[in-house]
Amino acid sequence: MTSSLGAASDEVIHAVSVIATKRGGFELSDAQIAWVVDGFTRGEVAPEQMSSLLMAIYLRGMNRREIATWTRAMIDSGRRMDLTGLRRDGRPLTTVDKHSTGGVGDKITLPLTPLVASFGVAVPQLSGRGLGHTGGTLDKLESIPGWRAEVSTEEMFAQLEQVGAVICAAGADLAPADRKLYALRDVTGTVESIPLLATSIMSKKIAEGTGALVLDVKTGSGAFLPDESDARELASTMVELGHDAGVDTRALITDMSVPLGLAVGNAVEVAESVEVLGGGGPADVVELTLALAREMLDAAGLPDADPASHLANGRAMDSWRSMIAAQGGDPDAPLPVARHQEVVTADRDGIVTDMDARAVGDAAWRLGGGRSKPGESVSAEAGVIIHAKPGDPIRAGQPLFTLHTQDEERIAGARSSLDGAFRIEDGGTDRRGAGDRPLILDSVRFTR
Ligand code: URA
Repeated sequence: MTSSLGAASDEVIHAVSVIATKRGGFELSDAQIAWVVDGFTRGEVAPEQMSSLLMAIYLRGMNRREIATWTRAMIDSGRRMDLTGLRRDGRPLTTVDKHSTGGVGDKITLPLTPLVASFGVAVPQLSGRGLGHTGGTLDKLESIPGWRAEVSTEEMFAQLEQVGAVICAAGADLAPADRKLYALRDVTGTVESIPLLATSIMSKKIAEGTGALVLDVKTGSGAFLPDESDARELASTMVELGHDAGVDTRALITDMSVPLGLAVGNAVEVAESVEVLGGGGPADVVELTLALAREMLDAAGLPDADPASHLANGRAMDSWRSMIAAQGGDPDAPLPVARHQEVVTADRDGIVTDMDARAVGDAAWRLGGGRSKPGESVSAEAGVIIHAKPGDPIRAGQPLFTLHTQDEERIAGARSSLDGAFRIEDGGTDRRGAGDRPLILDSVRFTR
């Protein structure tokens, strides 16, 4: 293994010295960062060396300069897309995207993308697959018969010009360093690091070429960063990175201590999204969809647009149907239904006062909805339907959850994930179970 290189006339860099610098709590130089990210992407820095560096970063952190340099190095590991040439009726198209840091029942991308596109804005949603307890947008959409996640760049550009909305897999050449680093972080216990989360998310979004970006930064038990002050730090770090790269970036801090909506899984989340697009759906999913849509439309120069009107008048649904059909999907086809369904009932009368998002996400994963290794297949049919959320009254014997799976043997594991995942008490009116926490906790914009 060649792990040494002269990166600057007076500095010889090798993997062990980079690791030792960070292990000792010192700053990495720009040259060290550029060298190690490039070397790892090209296979010259070994995974065990990068694992060690990731753990040192996890424990010691990185300052804003290091984070900015690391993000640039990840962008430079691949191709940066240019969306400025997109046109409709001869006029340039404004682009705006959204990214969520991931949560349980977080299907917001599905209704949000066509909703915002229905205002004449282009929304290039390059999405990922689920890993662990959080679901993946592409996994969810693949439960629609015929729909394909892989589209060429030419197809993506054409769809943005014609339909305005595209949700598809990121090409292999978009921040390839992140693909390798994410896989390693996932198996080395280093996902939940603010610098590593910020650089991972922002390198892909900046490389994608969007003009504006709205971030949904989750906090609470179902989020990567359960602590609210960590979520705020992640949000401000990413807003600054976006701003410095010329992308109008804002963030909402939102609660993820309770699952979003009533459906957690794949096909079941698509069905709930279609309800929202049809003007119905659970109040929390609608609230967050509209809040993010308003931010995106504002960032796109349409501060007075009323996204609720397009859910009510069918324009968002028309946009969804065109988006699904453009990628081979049949928006009218019935969604797959699980062979086995098992109801979990309440064991007493009372009010549901708490429901742990993480536990419900784990249950959906154990039913077959998620993967434990990259590349594993997931079950479109798997998921959990929630019948009562915090604040709802319930009687003993009434359904709390319905578990959906193709494989009956998975039910016991899902049931054990849900043991202790909710509380039923006498009285109590706490709607969201965390001190009556609102869903949207704050918004973060660039200030310096
Ligand atoms: N999503 C990303 O893109 N990267 C992470 O590190 C976590 C969530």
